Amino acid sequence: MIVGIGYDLCSVNRFADKNECRRFAARWFSLSEREYLAERSYAAQTAAGIFAAKEACLKVFGLPLFGVPMQDISIEHDSAGKPYLRCPALVGGNTVHISITHEGDVAGAMCVAEGTRYQV
Ligand SMILES: CC(C)(COP(=O)(O)OP(=O)(O)OC[C@H]1O[C@@H](n2cnc3c(N)ncnc32)[C@H](O)[C@@H]1OP(=O)(O)O)[C@@H](O)C(=O)NCCC(=O)NCCS
Repeated sequence: MIVGIGYDLCSVNRFADKNECRRFAARWFSLSEREYLAERSYAAQTAAGIFAAKEACLKVFGLPLFGVPMQDISIEHDSAGKPYLRCPALVGGNTVHISITHEGDVAGAMCVAEGTRYQV
């Protein structure tokens, strides 16, 4: 059953400056996220989508921003480009689904957790 949902938006402009985007990513993004971003020349929409997804994942599990180190919440992509969460501390025994979108200055992400117990 669905045990939690999280939804978050992030401004793309926040990552418009590539140097600032790199600095922000170095502080808050996982190595894998930074590699994905580097492959995309630190595209602002991609960075904003990943950050929205990280925040959406925290919401699913009822945690405040930075409730788990942000570098430990890693939004990764499979060979088809579909995002998924790698964060054993958050996921536990649940199955987590993520969807990211961006359009113009807004990026959004939805995260849904399936499991056997509601999150508190
Ligand atoms: C998924 C898809 C429809 C999104 O198209 P879009 O409307 O232009 O883009 P959106 O802004 O809504 O979403 C973009 C995000 O969707 C996610 N995404 C990419 N591919 C995806 C997929 N296959 N499934 C789910 N999500 C995907 C990514 O996080 C992407 O963000 P990023 O490019 O910054 O990393 C498009 O990327 C697509 O058709 N991909 C091909 C899927 C596929 O079958 N690939 C096979 C390769 S083997």
